[in-house]
Amino acid sequence: MSQPQQQPLLYQQQPQQPYGYNQPGYVVYGNTSEGAHHSDHHHHSKDVTYSIIFFILGFFISCLWLVNIKYLKSHEHSARGFAIASLVLMNKAIKFLTQKESTFMDELLLGPKYGFTSDQLMELAGLSVSSAVLKVYPKSEYRNVLTICGPGNNGGDGLIASRQLVGFGYNVSIYYPKRSSNDIFKRLLLQSELSGVHILSELPENIEDKYNIVIDAIFGYSFNASTGEIRAPFDSVINRLNHINQEKTPIVSVDIPSGWDVDVGNVKNTFVPKLLVSLASPKKCAQSFKGTHYLGGRFLPDAFASQWELNLPPYPGSEQCVDITNCQK
Ligand SMILES: *[C@@H]1O[C@H](CO)[C@@H](O)[C@H](O)[C@H]1NC(C)=O
Ligand SMILES: *[C@@H]1O[C@H](CO)[C@@H](O)[C@H](O)[C@H]1NC(C)=O
Repeated sequence: MSQPQQQPLLYQQQPQQPYGYNQPGYVVYGNTSEGAHHSDHHHHSKDVTYSIIFFILGFFISCLWLVNIKYLKSHEHSARGFAIASLVLMNKAIKFLTQKESTFMDELLLGPKYGFTSDQLMELAGLSVSSAVLKVYPKSEYRNVLTICGPGNNGGDGLIASRQLVGFGYNVSIYYPKRSSNDIFKRLLLQSELSGVHILSELPENIEDKYNIVIDAIFGYSFNASTGEIRAPFDSVINRLNHINQEKTPIVSVDIPSGWDVDVGNVKNTFVPKLLVSLASPKKCAQSFKGTHYLGGRFLPDAFASQWELNLPPYPGSEQCVDITNCQK
């Protein structure tokens, strides 16, 4: 594993120290009581005017923050829209990560400084995908789910989300054509099978007739669409997904719509999912995404998110996902 602390890729420079603290040349005005006595009346009233202006501004910004926190937690669309709009006004736009930044962030989380394991992060990521599906596509109408799993961690998220969706009452089938020999993926597949997920040996014909949702857990943020050709069998799988009637059977993509370039977006003109569940922090390609957008993967420590100025909205209560549709505009 590389030494992430030595190459801060998320930002070129380290985040700033708290304002005015421990900095040479910083003057503590409050302590220069002598200076205050010497100032003439004109300067004094000017100071008072500035103080009042700053107080009013500060009060106004604090109110906005309180209102944001209240409404970001609400389920009402217009209220959340207002909260997001005022976050934008306050220049607190969510940070969209590049492929390099995402790799760096994961290495940092899995390194000695934060101490997570890959199993933990995948489990929480999968849980947030199943939670977002439960919210957007209720099982009363969307009971039959087809999950397509890729060879890497994104496929692992799909295996986990499928097992949890069975627990939520969905009828889930998995198509997992390139299986990893890595122990964790074998365990996840075993767990899915034992939970009652159907394992398919090939991609079914007439997907729209049999399934109400397709979960695309093929490629995640490490897929390089600019250089890489999509390899078999996923080239034909993605080609099938390109032709799905999503008015009938919507596609839910895990972290990245498979086939998209992480930094640029839909470079190969492949399918655009109806729902995207970004994990931990949205990636650059999601900035051009127009569908329903959820954020999940509720594992980033607050200190981590604020150090890298990710500006993520708070998760309501104990929920595993939060609606961030339109936050990129
Ligand atoms: C559940 O899915 C399987 C596989 O697609 C299908 O054969 C079965 O009929 C489904 N069950 C119900 C109750 O819809
Ligand atoms: C993706 O391809 C570009 C262009 O060749 C390369 O610079 C970059 O390192 C690649 N990224 C990954 C994650 O392999």
